[in-house]
Amino acid sequence: MQIHVLSVIPELLESPFQHSILKRAQDKGLLKVEVHQLRKWAVNEYGQVDDYQFGGGAGMVMMCEPLAKAIEELSAQEKFDEIIFLTPDGERFNQGMANQLSLKKNLLLICGHYKGIDERIREHFVTREISIGDYVLSGGELAAAVVVDAIGRLLPGVLNDETSALFDSFQDNLLAPPVYTRPEEYRGWKVPEVLLSGDHKKIEEWRFDEAMKRTELRRPDLLKEN
Ligand code: ADE
Repeated sequence: MQIHVLSVIPELLESPFQHSILKRAQDKGLLKVEVHQLRKWAVNEYGQVDDYQFGGGAGMVMMCEPLAKAIEELSAQEKFDEIIFLTPDGERFNQGMANQLSLKKNLLLICGHYKGIDERIREHFVTREISIGDYVLSGGELAAAVVVDAIGRLLPGVLNDETSALFDSFQDNLLAPPVYTRPEEYRGWKVPEVLLSGDHKKIEEWRFDEAMKRTELRRPDLLKEN
């Protein structure tokens, strides 16, 4: 899978893409991430990519031309399945969307800044708009990092234990059950007996019950989605 990202601060994305699971995905050749500096398509030699908004009001808006040129130049080299704009007024990102996007071959993510991007780019180029939550970030880069991470770990062969992503929280609209590791007792706090029993059926039942309990308590909204 290939993911291209357009950003005015590509440095913000260096670290998240160069460590841990995303690094492994790229080292294994399962994922290729390319971050492009939008200023490469700036309207003048000063690297300008934004301007005052028509109608007045505080905050700059990212201009049509740099974005249109960047999207067109990249689209001439790649056939994008989706051109995604990260924005707080987009569709709320969730595990279902991550699963869906992980099946695509080639994505272009656009990170906004300031007041946002000129609406005409959204109308004429963007195929999907995603928000990672109801809060406003200073730019789309951290949101892009979240989306790429959630997608990258789902690609077949990326995680060591191929099945482990299937048991993540949210995969069945359930939160994950509690987990424990050694020692069996720490400061008098014991690991639930059933997990030490070796009885796999019982352990599965316990995990399911705990996942249900946790979901009912913390995220009852997820159960209504089933
Ligand atoms: N850009 C700024 N805030 C954002 C958010 N919550 N989700 C996605 N992109 C954003």
